[in-house]
Amino acid sequence: MNHLIKDFLKVTEEAAIQTLPWVGSGNKNGADQAATTSMRNNLNQIEMQGVIVIGEGEIDEAPMLYIDEQVGTGTGSKLDIAVDPIDGTTPAAKGKDNAICVIAAAPKGTLLHAPDMYMEKMIVGKEAAGVIDLDAPLLDNLIAVAKAKNKKVSELCVIIQDRPRHDDAVRIMRENGVTVELFQDGDVLKSLLPCVKPDEYDMLYNIGGAPEGVLSAVAIKCLGGEMQARLAFRNKEEYDRCMRMGLENPKAVLRHDQLAGSDQGLFVATAITDTEFLKGIQENSSNATTQSLVIDDKSKQLNIVESIKELVLV
Ligand code: FBP
Repeated sequence: MNHLIKDFLKVTEEAAIQTLPWVGSGNKNGADQAATTSMRNNLNQIEMQGVIVIGEGEIDEAPMLYIDEQVGTGTGSKLDIAVDPIDGTTPAAKGKDNAICVIAAAPKGTLLHAPDMYMEKMIVGKEAAGVIDLDAPLLDNLIAVAKAKNKKVSELCVIIQDRPRHDDAVRIMRENGVTVELFQDGDVLKSLLPCVKPDEYDMLYNIGGAPEGVLSAVAIKCLGGEMQARLAFRNKEEYDRCMRMGLENPKAVLRHDQLAGSDQGLFVATAITDTEFLKGIQENSSNATTQSLVIDDKSKQLNIVESIKELVLV
């Protein structure tokens, strides 16, 4: 998988650069479209037989990279691809922090194939891997994580998105003395914190996007952490879409291997604006400097790659 690092870096770096005219424009769709068009063009130049298994578009939703879309030259490795052309379209359009272009790849048949919908996610670093169970109440999980990390529950720090749907979870955690760190947008990179900064962060618990969940699952697997998830239905139509995509029991808890089933995986993200771990794009009249995060099964760590590219907007 790591022979493709350069190719996938080109995909996210160039997509991020193409969003520049849209940063702070107030136009989320314009930014998304610029990133998507660039990603598709560069993905189709990679020698691979790729298929988008989870992303933000359905077949009739041009211009999105749609679920089941074939990408690549049609020869080479057979891969499943999870993609979010921009995680953080709202901050990108507002010219604020926390917007990235992100993609993950794994051997064919190993990533969750599901619609774009909400997903409940629980993530811990390697010190607490093996002790969480999303079927159990949140408090039981906090107790298990505290025990595994030799801490009191009141010494834990949990990351969660600032959304009304999390009010109950936030209340339970605060009643038990847990430090709750709220964030506004972009749960893909936030998901990595319990693995990368285990002394500061003990868990991410969040109901966010399913594509973002699968992207995180690939990175967390390479980093030795654990993720469990459950699709969160808002209506019967979403449930029916899952059934049509072949999910046997769409309401069941998905263990890490059901999200990302192979030990092989590649995760690449390029910052548009400043975000966790990465500086946003710095531009001058002719060049753009990008910072990207590369996580793969060989290095099993977070690598930051800086590139200087000619600034060519298409
Ligand atoms: P997009 O920019 O792709 O829309 O996602 C931003 C994001 O914050 C994700 O990181 C998160 O998973 C999801 O939105 C949460 O959804 P919502 O903003 O609807 O609460």
